[in-house]
Amino acid sequence: MKSKNMSKLLWVESIFVLTLILAGTAMAQAPSFRPVATVLQIMQGMVVPNSDVIFKVSHNPPKDDKEWTNVQNSAITLAEVGNLLMIPGRTSVYKDLIDTDIKRNGDWAKNAKALTELSTRAFHAASAKDIKELDAMNNELEATCEHCHATYHPLRGNEPLP
Ligand code: HEC
Repeated sequence: MKSKNMSKLLWVESIFVLTLILAGTAMAQAPSFRPVATVLQIMQGMVVPNSDVIFKVSHNPPKDDKEWTNVQNSAITLAEVGNLLMIPGRTSVYKDLIDTDIKRNGDWAKNAKALTELSTRAFHAASAKDIKELDAMNNELEATCEHCHATYHPLRGNEPLP
């Protein structure tokens, strides 16, 4: 009986050790991100061209499947841009403010997540060729750009740089 308990204990211990080893391996292999673009480059290179495609749907609805696919592609790209904006260490005039906010999951994070959620909605609307839905959500999308810029855009409207 005693030795049975002992072997049970050994078994539990080895599982514990194995778990520690596996956890250690998982931690060592955790991916690390290396931000390449500045926030401004992301805005100019990804956010502006792709949000333009979505904003335009209201005035200039897609005419064929190819144009709808284009709207889908822009929406899915913009959705992923929200994730890119959550990677800390990205250069911007307000880098420290942004990095602190990402850690606290504050306003920056909220706006970046809103960008992802709205763009995902836009993707589904584009898949359903639902102009009405895209039209309705464009105001919300624009408001998300404005909310974030109100705090984090260095120009803050026409105010000078800090
Ligand atoms: C999570 C915050 C955030 C969201 C959301 C966001 N932006 Fe920005 N945007 C910024 C910041 C910060 C800058 C300034 C970056 C810098 O100069 O370091 C910027 C800069 C810009 C600029 C450059 C202006 C200039 O000075 O040349 C444009 C254009 C722009 N954003 C468009 C948009 C549009 C359009 C959307 C919405 C579809 C959007 N942004 C959503 C944070 C955001």
